Amino acid sequence: MTDTKTAKLSINDRDFDLPVYSPTAGPDVIDITKLYGQAGVFTHDPGFTSTSSCVSQITFIDGDKGELLHRGYPIDQLAKDSNYLEVCYLLLYGELPTATEMADFETRVTRHTMIHEQMHNFFRGFRRDAHPMATMVGVVGAMSAFYHDSTDINDPWQREVASIRMIAKMPTIAAMAYKYSIGQPFVYPRNDLDYATNFLRMCFAVPAEEYVPDPVLSRAMDRIFTLHADHEQNASTSTVRLAGSSGANPFACIAAGIACLWGPAHGGANQACLEMLREIGTVDRIPEYIARAKDKNDPFRLMGFGHRVYKNFDPRAKVMKESADEVLDLLGVENNPTLQVAKELEKIALEDSYFADKKLYPNVDFYSGIILDAMGFPTSMFTPIFAVSRTVGWIAQWKEMLNDPAAKIGRPRQLYTGPTKRDYVNIAKR
Ligand code: CMC
Repeated sequence: MTDTKTAKLSINDRDFDLPVYSPTAGPDVIDITKLYGQAGVFTHDPGFTSTSSCVSQITFIDGDKGELLHRGYPIDQLAKDSNYLEVCYLLLYGELPTATEMADFETRVTRHTMIHEQMHNFFRGFRRDAHPMATMVGVVGAMSAFYHDSTDINDPWQREVASIRMIAKMPTIAAMAYKYSIGQPFVYPRNDLDYATNFLRMCFAVPAEEYVPDPVLSRAMDRIFTLHADHEQNASTSTVRLAGSSGANPFACIAAGIACLWGPAHGGANQACLEMLREIGTVDRIPEYIARAKDKNDPFRLMGFGHRVYKNFDPRAKVMKESADEVLDLLGVENNPTLQVAKELEKIALEDSYFADKKLYPNVDFYSGIILDAMGFPTSMFTPIFAVSRTVGWIAQWKEMLNDPAAKIGRPRQLYTGPTKRDYVNIAKR
């Protein structure tokens, strides 16, 4: 990061020089941190469309090219040639591991897959029809009441243990939330299985019958985890950073991230997308929904389309589409009506000038739901699976923030348009 350039800002005939930093990739960034002190003005950018909130070395997105890099490595290469746990290592520690480092990391993660037995009672306190995301927000937040030896954020060892614990336990928690919702007994993790297979087994095995997934399904699950692992300063990651900026413990911060992810504009889009495809139902109804998506007076949006940063194909969607073909081929559901609607909708939307002009392309969530549905997951589990995957990204970004000497508590300013000062009027006189 260099700051040899400056930007000039003129306000009421006074000029201010603002430092401009050049990142290793992406557009230059104007530093406005001293602007209020010098000029007495704030900048206004709701939704952070033109605002960088931190310095980061983890993930880079080139939205125009449709490129996503983790520590410099393209996501399509990682999805095809690496695996989720190796990507976790890369995101957390900055480099690809050696074989010894990888074996050590896998051992550390697998040794933490079980949750405290007492925590089972938390699940039992929820209604059976609770959304698994609601259960996850509660149970992950409750981890801070159980793992007291890893809540001190000032101790690097405790930060590390908390990080490994969450990566290891999140699949267990998500699978337990699912099992609870369908009234089946919890299935304990098995450390001889890889991360994805273990998760599938915890979701689909029952004490009466073992579950051995086809390697194609394990690979597809692992890819879903890998493709969602991190996505730079998105809403849930920024939430985790903001929560962490106050010094909150790591479990509380990740619970905040899960809550933010749940929304349909973010991680909840995968559930919303599949529900939309089912609602459309048949190919002949697509034009009606396209017309609704284009109608300014209708709040309906095509779920799984569009992205704040990508103004080109989401690179994750390309890999996800290949995975969808593999899984559906294996399971023999190529003629599944939802898939037919998805394929036709994609084709029609990509040819439509409304979507082309606004650069709205299918995003990762357009295809992930189709794969998860074919695997047997209910739509309510789609976003919890996203949360399992994204945990490592949240943690890597949270750790980076704690190690940044320039990091401060996040505290945006506002453009106030409410009443100015006025005197209180007693209720009898109103
Ligand atoms: N269907 C129809 N119109 C859309 C859509 C859509 N899916 N997405 C954006 N637009 C229109 C929007 O109406 C606006 O039109 P205009 O300029 O005429 O007002 C224009 O495109 C720009 O939209 P925006 O809301 O200003 O863009 P944004 O960057 O704030 O929103 C988004 C990004 C992802 C929230 C939005 O595209 C969306 O709601 N998509 C559907 C939900 C979805 O699939 N979300 C998953 C995102 S990928 C997974 C993740 O990272 O969480």
